[in-house]
Amino acid sequence: MIKVLFVCLGNICRSPMAEFVFRDMVQKRGLADQFHIASAATSSEELGNPVHYGTTNKLKALGISTKGKYAVQLKKKDYQEYDYILGMEYRNIRNIDRIVGSDPKRKVHMLLDFSGNPRDIADPWYTGNFDRTYDDILEGCEGFLNYLISTGAVR
Ligand code: 4NP
Repeated sequence: MIKVLFVCLGNICRSPMAEFVFRDMVQKRGLADQFHIASAATSSEELGNPVHYGTTNKLKALGISTKGKYAVQLKKKDYQEYDYILGMEYRNIRNIDRIVGSDPKRKVHMLLDFSGNPRDIADPWYTGNFDRTYDDILEGCEGFLNYLISTGAVR
């Protein structure tokens, strides 16, 4: 079982989008039983809130539901419970480090580090453009899954 936690600032826009896109991707490839997938915030700003309508609308158009997801905060113990803690942007990585402490097992990465073009995921909070965010997240999730397959972690 590979345990993956996607992390952003508020856990209402980017990390829930990554959680549901990646879950949909592994389901469609018949790999769902090899994964535990979740998402969390570094801030307490949006705790308990549902997924932002920009993300739900984008995913709904793709046939993906975010029902039942409410923002939760990253906890120090999550470092032990997950194999991969994937931030959406560099600022998230600094905040993740503050919560979990050190990263001796090198579990913390940026999602797009698994793409051919490492960079921050476009932040829709500022751009209002959830299409661009989705394109970045799809690229990151595909790269991450291909990485896991190429290392033999997933088959
Ligand atoms: P997210 O988006 O981190 O992708 O969930 C944001 C949510 C809330 C805020 C910023 C970004 N905020 O400033 O409260």
